[in-house]
Amino acid sequence: NSICYQNSMLRIFHRKHLLLNLNKNLTTQLSQQQNQKVVSFDDNVKQRRDEANRSILVQVQSAHSFHELQSYCSSVGTVKKMMHYSTGVEPMHFIIVEFAKASDLQNIYTMSSYIEDTQVVPVQSSYLWFRAATKKLSKNKNKSIHKLNVENGNHILRDNELLQVLNSCADVNEQMVNLHNSTRLNEVGTRLRFLVAKQIEMAISGMFPNSAALPFGSSVNGFGKMGCDLDLVLRLNDESKVITDETRLVYHCKALSGSERSISQRHMEVIGDILQLFLPGCSQVRKILQARVPIIKYYQQLTDVECDLSMSNTSGYHMSDFLYIMGAMDHRVRPLIFTIRRWAATVGLTNSSPGRWITNFSLTLLVIGFLQNLPKPVLPSLNALVKLAGKNDKYITDDGINCTFLRDINVYLATNPIENTDSLKILLLQFFVYYSQFDFSSKAICLNESMAIAKPEHSALYIVNPLERGLNVSKNVSPEELEKFRLEVRNAAWLLESDETKDSNWGIIPLLTAKRILSMNNGNLPRTKLLEVSKLFEDDKDGPVYKNNDVKKQVQ
Ligand code: CTP
Ligand code: MG
Repeated sequence: NSICYQNSMLRIFHRKHLLLNLNKNLTTQLSQQQNQKVVSFDDNVKQRRDEANRSILVQVQSAHSFHELQSYCSSVGTVKKMMHYSTGVEPMHFIIVEFAKASDLQNIYTMSSYIEDTQVVPVQSSYLWFRAATKKLSKNKNKSIHKLNVENGNHILRDNELLQVLNSCADVNEQMVNLHNSTRLNEVGTRLRFLVAKQIEMAISGMFPNSAALPFGSSVNGFGKMGCDLDLVLRLNDESKVITDETRLVYHCKALSGSERSISQRHMEVIGDILQLFLPGCSQVRKILQARVPIIKYYQQLTDVECDLSMSNTSGYHMSDFLYIMGAMDHRVRPLIFTIRRWAATVGLTNSSPGRWITNFSLTLLVIGFLQNLPKPVLPSLNALVKLAGKNDKYITDDGINCTFLRDINVYLATNPIENTDSLKILLLQFFVYYSQFDFSSKAICLNESMAIAKPEHSALYIVNPLERGLNVSKNVSPEELEKFRLEVRNAAWLLESDETKDSNWGIIPLLTAKRILSMNNGNLPRTKLLEVSKLFEDDKDGPVYKNNDVKKQVQ
């Protein structure tokens, strides 16, 4: 291992110095990740919400305002961390300031004021701007200011920058790890999303002091990339505040009238109006209240985050927990899913607007289903986690969906070490071949049991919703889009298997660039290459063989 490592480092040495440093850092990060105990999803969310409760977002003139702001804030409370980022074509600059205590924030609010302008709504929130000083400031009176941990940016890597990173890698595995590390949602992006959630809680805190706007989806499930949308579910009374035997004084509450759905729609309408009329930065508010799960879409321009807010989608949060667990089980899962999601976007299988195509969520379940189904599985079934659930893992949502499964994966891994040691490249190739051979016409992907089951109905693609087993997650996918998926996975398998040359287009790069063999070739794959890929599995004497008569027939 150490010789391989040295060799690969030597090769990289001749490339750009910047990229060398990036790779070194990422390698260290990866080995650290492998040895760390996994923090549970709930604890992670709790810690992030707590951080947001101690943080403000301050617009500044430029990054140079950093020290002045630091000095000002330190005279009010103890500053723990400051992070700069900018957004927009003519960049607006912001600094996230995290204080040590929530009470520091109260002092900040007490000391802050509103501009004198009858044309604005005077709202108190954690979004502020830093005025130029009217008096010349005495130099840093506060001696307690020490060097703060400064982290920069919410920069989204451009395609050519990413290609440069991938090109400098030693092999495909390193490419996939680097793709994940350089495109995943970073610290600033995560903090901004929790500040967006907090803005809503703060806005309604007078009436609903125990409300919780909980992020779910890719912002928190470990599969989010820089710039990803924020999915939020708003609960007016978080579970912690329900009546107990000791409670003597109980709040009078407004009686509800009408169906649950119509009430929820009315509430969402009001929340949408609050966002639109009162909350700084919230723009382009669209209420989509007739959908199965009614949502409000809006853009938070101070944080540059697109949001989908719902009030009734409680299973989405637990689904995110499940995906988080799957991603944390093994260090290969996230780089694999990132590569596949990026490949799917490049070849046009996924699309940022909703439609008849596969969503990122469905695609993620397809990868998990594949990893569960290997001869030596990388991931356990959901049922295996359900069996190990303890009393703290019990969750039934308001609408009766059972979301009980083991949350602490350290418990699972202690007794069920993952035996599969395949490289990321092999797993990626196996994924493509697995789905090029999958019998979509009669089988459904089922993560509960780690196996393909008979399809309950005739949707083109059927992925059983792991938490609501009666539902198909990919019901929206049309037969044409499924066919496109089948062609693209074959094409990708061929591209990946055929390319080991070290010019500028090698490894996963052809999968992530727009050049596609399919279009040049009218969808027909070169026969020899495809058979070579299938052979890769036939040689594996340990497990079931993924023979592909179907594919072979097509290319003959
Ligand atoms: N979800 C679900 N059932 C569905 C669709 C979505 O439970 N049929 C939940 C999942 O937890 C999913 C989340 O809602 O992660 C958000 O859905 P979506 O925004 O479509 O997917 P993301 O995972 O957030 O991916 P993206 O980065 O494309 O937003
Ligand atoms: Mg999302």
